Amino acid sequence: MKIMSVVGARPQFVKLAPIAQALITAGHEHVIVHTGQHYDPMLSDVFFHDLGIPEPDAHLGVGSGSHGVQTGAMLAHMDEVLERFKPDCVLVYGDTNSTLAAAVSAVKLHFPVAHLEAGLRSFNRSMPEEHNRVLTDHAADLCLAPTEVAVQHLSTEGLAGRSVLVGDVMTDVLFQVRDAVLASDAVNPLDDLDAPHGYYVATIHRAENTNEPERLREVVEALAAADRPVILLAHPRVRAKAEEHGIPLNTGALVTRDPLPYPGLIAAVLGSAGVVTDSGGLQKEAFLLRIPCTTVRHETEWVETIDLGWNVLANTTDQITSALTRPAPAHTDAAPYGDGHAAERAVEAIREALANQE
Ligand code: UD1
Repeated sequence: MKIMSVVGARPQFVKLAPIAQALITAGHEHVIVHTGQHYDPMLSDVFFHDLGIPEPDAHLGVGSGSHGVQTGAMLAHMDEVLERFKPDCVLVYGDTNSTLAAAVSAVKLHFPVAHLEAGLRSFNRSMPEEHNRVLTDHAADLCLAPTEVAVQHLSTEGLAGRSVLVGDVMTDVLFQVRDAVLASDAVNPLDDLDAPHGYYVATIHRAENTNEPERLREVVEALAAADRPVILLAHPRVRAKAEEHGIPLNTGALVTRDPLPYPGLIAAVLGSAGVVTDSGGLQKEAFLLRIPCTTVRHETEWVETIDLGWNVLANTTDQITSALTRPAPAHTDAAPYGDGHAAERAVEAIREALANQE
């Protein structure tokens, strides 16, 4: 079986790592296409290097742009790549513009599409990720769901017949990297901080928190008022928007650093007093590492983190302050994101679906 993975943005490289490993172990052929949505070395190359992912077989080099320009450029390039490699199945990941473009181009040329991380919903139709994931699920031939809740959403939308619960592949990679970090003398990249009472790890990059100056200012002010240093691992979007709107990011408790490679991020989170973020992946990583998380959004796709008490949604300064200083959550052994073997199950589900088609 020849699988083509199409990836382009940071969280997709993390999800690609265990899939690439599982495909090699199962003896399948794997073609990797990088759309070029993320191109800074710290958002792209370091993940391939640190997570042992083979070099991409094709690079579309689309770069940044408005949604239409970026997605359209990917569509324009994908036809040639699909015709060149003729995969048995195109695997798309998550909810970025790269996901949607790859899914649309593949279905148009009648290549079977599998969607990894299918069925997540925020029900917030102003999020670009929500359009991307809904449209991709409905275009896909196979929806590989990470959680029971995701399976329920797919079922509600009439997609039960093509959905399989495989677990969450980010759990696979997180457990591997966590164990490697704990087993080694890997240094926490934030050890140099003068933070006798600990620190919080922060990431903020979503359009809804960064695009409007009033909103970005509110988030920055809330983080600056925290009771411990807040280390903002600043995505280029937040730096660019802050500069454009004249909002200083290094203020009060808030300190910016560059984004970290994956093992460094895990070490930093393990050493922290808490995480404050609008990233989907980091909410779940915090939960899996049992570090309390504060999510700067009005809703989350990873509802299990909230239900189990390890994540709290907070948007205003007061909400963020009280979320950061809340009592430690109750211990839980719950494992809503699987056992760390989701990638193997995803590969097997694709093989079975293709076999049933023949
Ligand atoms: C994208 C995804 C988002 C995901 C995030 C992970 C979409 C719609 N959004 O958001 O779901 O959570 O990736 O990080 O696909 N930029 C750089 N260097 C880069 C990439 C981007 O400087 O390598 C800057 C550019 O100014 C660019 C901006 O960041 O315009 C936004 O990048 P883009 O890829 O459009 O979206 P993200 O915010 O990264």
